[in-house]
Amino acid sequence: MPNASDDLFTREDPIFANKELLEINHLPGEGRIVGRDDEISNLATAVNPAIFGQSPSNVLIYGKTGTGKSLCAKYVSQRLVDTAEEEGVKATFAYVDCAQDTTETQAVQTIADSVNDPAVTGIKVPDKGLSTSTYYKRLWRILDSLYDVVLIILDEIDKLSDDDILMQLSRAGEAGKISGCKLGVIGISNKIQYKDRMDERVKSSLCEREFVFPPYDANQLRDIMDARSDAFRNGVLDPSTIPRAAALAAREHGDARKAIDILRYAGEIAQSMGANTVKENFVTQARQRAETDRFRELIRGSTPHSRYVLQALAILSLSNQQQDGFRTSRVYEVYENICRQQGSDSLSLRRVRDLLKEHAFLDIIEQSKHSGGSAEGSYTKHQLLEDPDVVKDVLTEGADV
Ligand SMILES: Nc1ncnc2c1ncn2[C@@H]1O[C@H](COP(=O)(O)OP(=O)(O)OP(=O)(O)O)[C@@H](O)[C@H]1O
Ligand SMILES: [Mg+2]
Repeated sequence: MPNASDDLFTREDPIFANKELLEINHLPGEGRIVGRDDEISNLATAVNPAIFGQSPSNVLIYGKTGTGKSLCAKYVSQRLVDTAEEEGVKATFAYVDCAQDTTETQAVQTIADSVNDPAVTGIKVPDKGLSTSTYYKRLWRILDSLYDVVLIILDEIDKLSDDDILMQLSRAGEAGKISGCKLGVIGISNKIQYKDRMDERVKSSLCEREFVFPPYDANQLRDIMDARSDAFRNGVLDPSTIPRAAALAAREHGDARKAIDILRYAGEIAQSMGANTVKENFVTQARQRAETDRFRELIRGSTPHSRYVLQALAILSLSNQQQDGFRTSRVYEVYENICRQQGSDSLSLRRVRDLLKEHAFLDIIEQSKHSGGSAEGSYTKHQLLEDPDVVKDVLTEGADV
């Protein structure tokens, strides 16, 4: 039987040549970061003193999801470390995803572990089991014995359960915790109100520089995707696929992650259909999947009450399909019901208003002001921008977490 078994498997991926270029954690190299020259150069200026062994400025970066905040922070930090090395300055950076390491202890452990070199320091940083203050002591010793300068990226900083670590890190030098090493903190958040909640003292030392990353427009998204089109085999991408995906993603959120996801899913759809080109019409289907992923990612690590508020709006939208928005009092009623069902005390109307504002900043919902005439005064209406079915599905899949 010559080669009969050969037909069972495809030996080469017919669609993708380098799929990893489109994977979530892929860090694009030089020349593949598009449309962020100003942001990158501002960030570089803020941390530049580190190259001469001086204190970098502490920085806070804001912007909506998928605007390149994490990417640019890592990219600039890596470049800084490389340049410092060329100047004979010992530098490194630590990256903390605060949605994962939400407590002070977890975050310090992650930082200490990632900058440690136990063969040189002889210091152990176990995963758990030490007190917070012991982790700090080990961190300070590691920093002083190995480095002149260290940058610490606290990504999704608003997910930290309190400000204590910010206080410690931003004042380590003046408090005499470290003597030889200089620290710089880069905080990243997609919640614009985050700063309002911060302790005044932390605010003044952490927010020396603030940058806001704007959403991408369709041209930038097209360039970002074009720069990764070599993820696909030659000739596989229909020429109209990227422009179509860019137009859709720009119209909705200007989110680069979503644009790249759409492209990857469009390729996977082509694969599963046995098509040999990625056609423009696959983009529509891909968009639906990207939307679900995006929403899941947006609410990752958010508090139960922040989810209940969205759930309330999803319930209202599903049962009143014609209506274009719901007043705060209406949303609050349904929210209170959900709290009751969950056996949880409801938050004040004021807190719920704040949560709604946060969702509006992330473009999960849209708020509009209305004037109800002289008798009523003005009021706000809230409307889901995400598909209510997607919201409901994602929120209920997280119910047992
Ligand atoms: N200017 C760009 N050039 C190339 N790729 C980009 C650019 N901006 C973002 N990306 C890619 O888009 C995805 C999302 O970017 P990133 O993770 O930096 O967003 P973010 O602003 O941190 O979003 P979030 O607030 O959700 O964390 C990443 O895969 C990143 O590589
Ligand atoms: Mg990020």
